[in-house]
Amino acid sequence: MIKRKILIFGGSFDPPHKIHIQILKDAIKKIKPDKTIIFPTYLSPFKKSHLLTYNERKNTIKLMIKDAKIKATINDLEYKRKKKTYTWMIVKELKKKYLNSKIYFIIGSDSLKKLKLWKKYKYLISNLIFIVAKRKGYNILKKNISSINFLTLKKTYPNLSSTQIRKEIFIGNYNNVPKHLAKLIEKKFKIKKTISKIKKLISKKRFYHTLETIKLATHLAWINGIDIKKAFFAAALHDIAKDFPLELQIKLAKKHYPNIKKLDEVIKKAPQILHQWSSATIAKKIFKIKDKSILQAISKHTTASKKMSILDKIIYVSDISSEDRTFYEAKKIRNLAIKDINKAFEVAKNTKIRYIKACKKHFYEKY
Ligand SMILES: [Fe+2]
Ligand SMILES: [Fe+2]
Repeated sequence: MIKRKILIFGGSFDPPHKIHIQILKDAIKKIKPDKTIIFPTYLSPFKKSHLLTYNERKNTIKLMIKDAKIKATINDLEYKRKKKTYTWMIVKELKKKYLNSKIYFIIGSDSLKKLKLWKKYKYLISNLIFIVAKRKGYNILKKNISSINFLTLKKTYPNLSSTQIRKEIFIGNYNNVPKHLAKLIEKKFKIKKTISKIKKLISKKRFYHTLETIKLATHLAWINGIDIKKAFFAAALHDIAKDFPLELQIKLAKKHYPNIKKLDEVIKKAPQILHQWSSATIAKKIFKIKDKSILQAISKHTTASKKMSILDKIIYVSDISSEDRTFYEAKKIRNLAIKDINKAFEVAKNTKIRYIKACKKHFYEKY
């Protein structure tokens, strides 16, 4: 009896992109499955940390596969369960539904290394045939495939990930998403509009730093379940007033920080930190930011404070360790932030204090 071929493709698809479609198309060509099923990962609708809602992701996938003439269904299993669903659960479900079948599972060569860490790994490798899509920079190592059933797609795919595309999107580059999606995202987040306004108010160097801060902050928001729109605006506007003349900065800072006595001391000793308050004022007055948590994150991004929300920490850490930062610890802090924002904040804070104490003023002036 010939077994039915079921091809499955899972992912967060936040957002779906052209490499997803290319891989799916090539896998279908190779396997010629009887059924192709796409499983978008469950991302909590209660958290605003994602770029797209489930329905937006689903509709976009639908349009993209229609455009590519791909016949596939989108499975709502994870969405209906309303919690994280492991691959083995999906496989079990499919085996029940399609009794006599072979299940093919698309996986990127970048994920092979971690396959052993997946839940019920043994169950997975004895029930799945993996379709490996080679990603640039991730060779298929013998030790990672020795115990699995697999087939390899011919091409090597560019290393374009949803994470990377999200970073591009949040700096106003919509090149890697379909037009309808770009329109939807701009309507939701007003990224391009905000960024072109910012560009007019700050120097070239500061603008570059702002874009790098946005990339890191929105990524950290995504990972930590923090409102990604808030992270975008706080990062985008954190240095907005930094290039303003000192007199104007003092005036603006006073509006956000009315403790004049303390502020006078700051003006005398460390005028470079005034911009955290003056920027908050500009965010409120010019960019019409009403949300207190965004304004707070901006107003704490250089000095920090005893009580720091996760958003405050994300902005503080992103500012100090964005890709444009060249000092020794920046990369270390950035990598740590991906794993643990609280620890990264502590390291960032201590690093800053150490530099200030050591009178490495050039560092202090930079942020
Ligand atoms: Fe900054
Ligand atoms: Fe700053």
